[in-house]
Parts: sequence; structure tokens; C-alpha cells
Amino acid sequence: MTSDPERSPPPTDPTGSPPAPVAGWLVDRRGALLRLAGVAVAGGLFTRFLTPDRPRAGGQLRVASADVPRDGALVFERQRVAIVDRAGVRYALDLRCTHLGCTADVGADAIRCHCHGSVFDLAGGVVHGPASRALEALPIREDGDVLEVLL
Ligand code: FES
Repeated sequence: MTSDPERSPPPTDPTGSPPAPVAGWLVDRRGALLRLAGVAVAGGLFTRFLTPDRPRAGGQLRVASADVPRDGALVFERQRVAIVDRAGVRYALDLRCTHLGCTADVGADAIRCHCHGSVFDLAGGVVHGPASRALEALPIREDGDVLEVLL
């Protein structure tokens, strides 16, 4: 009497345990892929955390001096720069948060990063973290009625 290989029961392992169902294998494979993707994302975030922001591309911003409000700020969202006026003294700040690089918002009394809650004073100094470094001050010069910020 010969056995038909297509009708024979599935092989069992030497311990006698039944083989794992195919669906379980798929779930395990899917779980492994999800874990691998999670590790890749976490690695990317960790690398991003350890590396400083990319330097600015260079160039300059030119704006009419009269456009900067007295005791206020003129914000250039695309360039992520603010020209701040405090009692007639003007300076430019890079609004890239020194924590992880989100763009900080200039308010009436502080500059806030909404990503993780860092707060900077209007001079760019850290009020509270997680950011530990002040916002970068950018070179600015006044040329007649024009302000020029070097990016
Ligand atoms: S990126 Fe600004 S607080 Fe984290």
C-alpha cells in the first residue's frame, strides 16, 4: 500500500506540535514589517535629533525700513525670519526652533514653538525648553530706508 503525498497530513515538528497556521505566519510577517518600519522611523527621528538644522541657503532679504512696525515684528514666513523692533532697535531672528527645527511664532510678548512648547523671549533667548539654545540672530544692516538681512 502506497500513500498519496497530496493526501498525507501536514508534517508535524518533532515535539508533536501542530504547524503554525498560515494566517499566523502572515500576521507575524506583517508584525515584523511594522516593527521594522517603526525602527526605521525612530532611527530617522533620532538622527534628526542629533544633527543640526541645515544651514541657510544664503542670500538676503531686503525690506523698506518703514514696513517694520515700531515695537513689533515683521515676519517672513517662507524664509522663517522675523525682523523685530524694540524701542527703535532692530534685529533679525531665525525663527527655526533650536530644538528640532519647527518654525516658531512671534507673539506680542514671546516667541513660541508649538511643536514641543519651547518659549523664547523677544530677543531670542530661551525662556523654557525643551530648546536649550537661543534663536539665531541674523546679520542685519540698514542702508538708507532699506533693511537688509543676510540669510
Ligand atoms: S521643535 Fe520647537 S520645541 Fe521642539
